[in-house]
Amino acid sequence: MSKSRQVRVHLVCDTFRPESLADAVVVVIDVLRATTTIVHALAAGCVAVRPITQVDEARQIAGAMRAGHVLLAGERDGRPLPGFDLGNSPKSFTATRCKGQTLVLTTTNGTRALVRCQHAARVLVGAFVNFSAVCEQLRIDARPIHIVCAGNDGAVALEDTLLAGAFVDFLCEHATVELDDGARVAWDCFENQGRVLDGALQICAGGVLLTALGYDDDIRAAARVDVFALAPEVRSDPLRIEPGTVGITKQYWVK
Ligand code: MLT
Repeated sequence: MSKSRQVRVHLVCDTFRPESLADAVVVVIDVLRATTTIVHALAAGCVAVRPITQVDEARQIAGAMRAGHVLLAGERDGRPLPGFDLGNSPKSFTATRCKGQTLVLTTTNGTRALVRCQHAARVLVGAFVNFSAVCEQLRIDARPIHIVCAGNDGAVALEDTLLAGAFVDFLCEHATVELDDGARVAWDCFENQGRVLDGALQICAGGVLLTALGYDDDIRAAARVDVFALAPEVRSDPLRIEPGTVGITKQYWVK
């Protein structure tokens, strides 16, 4: 019998000890919008994304980079930041803006979650738009799995929990797994609300805020499944996300 793999889901990103990820493959999720945006930016031709926690630090890092080769983007409270090239709307990361650029990105929760996971054995960036590409990497990597939801200022976010549950659902189908309580909660949530994804992303707190700010299109972009066959991966020195495994993937999303 094959050895069972531990699958843990952290419903918010501040509760685990970073050292506990040392031997794990981690998937970081921030559906609205950071990880969705990162996948869009890399698919559109960015060579790397530097996740930064503080706004001033992001300005400094971008300022020290070669002009014409860097894009500075991000948000606070959902809004674009003064002097930045772009906000955090996935579809604004077009090929024209992104080709050959390094993206310096700072967001409220998503980039903080990525930085907290940086010492894991391996870190992947997950969104609905690259669901199957990430599933494929989880399938072939034998390490314990930690799925880290960025959440919403320390609170659970429905959209992140749904995607975590979709990964748990996939893993239960394709491996022998041992789930923690977070994984069971996320799986249950996905079982109940995963089939009405567009609606769930509209009623969650992040969706309500984005709608109020006029970013309805970002919600629709984040609810699309398997748009990109790309499993972005975190690298170090300096901390950055690169396109990772690119290519045609089997579709694992169950309708
Ligand atoms: C975050 O990092 O919290 C999100 O990306 C927020 C947003 O894009 O509005």
